[in-house]
Amino acid sequence: MSYVRLVNVTKRFGDVTAVNSLNFEIGKGECFSMLGPSGCGKTTTLRMVAGFEDLSDGEVWVGDRLLSSPKKNHYLPPEKRNFGMVFQAFAVWPHLSVYENVAFPLRIRKLPDSEIDQRTKEALKATNLLSAANESPDFLSGGGKQRVALARALAINPDVMLLDEPLSSLDPHLREEMRFEIKELQQKYGFSIIYVTHDQSEAMALSDRILVMKLGVVQQIDTPLNIYNHPANQFVFSFIGLSNFLKAIPQDGHVILPDQSEAVPMTLKPPDSLRDAALLSLASRPSEIDFTHMEDPAGLHGIVSRKAFLGEIIDYQIKVGDQVLRVQKGRRDPGPEPGAVCAIHFLRPFWYKEK
Ligand SMILES: Nc1ncnc2c1ncn2[C@@H]1O[C@H](COP(=O)(O)OP(=O)(O)OP(=O)(O)O)[C@@H](O)[C@H]1O
Ligand SMILES: [Mg+2]
Repeated sequence: MSYVRLVNVTKRFGDVTAVNSLNFEIGKGECFSMLGPSGCGKTTTLRMVAGFEDLSDGEVWVGDRLLSSPKKNHYLPPEKRNFGMVFQAFAVWPHLSVYENVAFPLRIRKLPDSEIDQRTKEALKATNLLSAANESPDFLSGGGKQRVALARALAINPDVMLLDEPLSSLDPHLREEMRFEIKELQQKYGFSIIYVTHDQSEAMALSDRILVMKLGVVQQIDTPLNIYNHPANQFVFSFIGLSNFLKAIPQDGHVILPDQSEAVPMTLKPPDSLRDAALLSLASRPSEIDFTHMEDPAGLHGIVSRKAFLGEIIDYQIKVGDQVLRVQKGRRDPGPEPGAVCAIHFLRPFWYKEK
């Protein structure tokens, strides 16, 4: 059931349309991520949901409460929205103790002292900060400061947690740990999360559903699995996971490579709907390509140009005409050395029309 609802939400800054007619609904207790490259409108969207930014058009709802609607001249200020927020540059105040940092939003809300104390302690406990309550956050590590920001957002007992790249300043190991902590807090308290990131693995690990955005326009909203397995378009394919795009020209029901006359084997046919395109992209994941010894007439011919050992996987570069493919294999499957000729098989090709 939908809880947070954005209807045709649009934000213009002068000539720039930062967010263009955005529609999505989030369920109670759902973790929903917004993913997209820098400047695609993620923070602007979050700020509109939070109430820090006016909408140019559209509506924001939570349950049956309208929060923002320029047409209806309606706007509820941030402190009345009951949203917890954590932003990229975790703004913890060094001149206040950890305890006072967390209590701050409750003092703003003018709650009774006993309630402030009880809620602050609970949030500190949930984030493992009770023992640091009287210290300055300056003495904490990056992860510790991040916990203070989370505790402060938790203390208000939020209906929705708005998280804007909350882990981007942490090292990779800590990031991974904090992801699970956020998830655990959500399961314990049942709030919904809107999580903004441009790190696709973070979005995949945390989210029930992901929205992929480009230049203020939604490209796809779906589960992590569906986004990965059934990307809506070439942009989504390229943004989630590693990708290869091999240019190919349709000819008589199959394809040839632009730089050579060699036909790509007949087993690889583009979909009928794309046969009339001038140029296609054959999209593939590095882990979904096989290559075998060259005496394999069914494969596309290539030459291994690089082989790098990355621990669990071996990463190959294979030249196909003047294009390059990246292929990844498990380390137990050693494969040919640079210079070797090979035949390539695409295990799960996707086709896109080149514009
Ligand atoms: N206050 C503002 N005035 C003018 N333009 C703005 C303002 N805030 C954002 N923009 C523009 O709106 C677009 C979206 O910006 P936004 O900060 O929402 O992107 P983002 O997806 O959060 O990017 P990043 O991943 O870099 O944080 C950009 O083109 C940006 O320059
Ligand atoms: Mg941003």
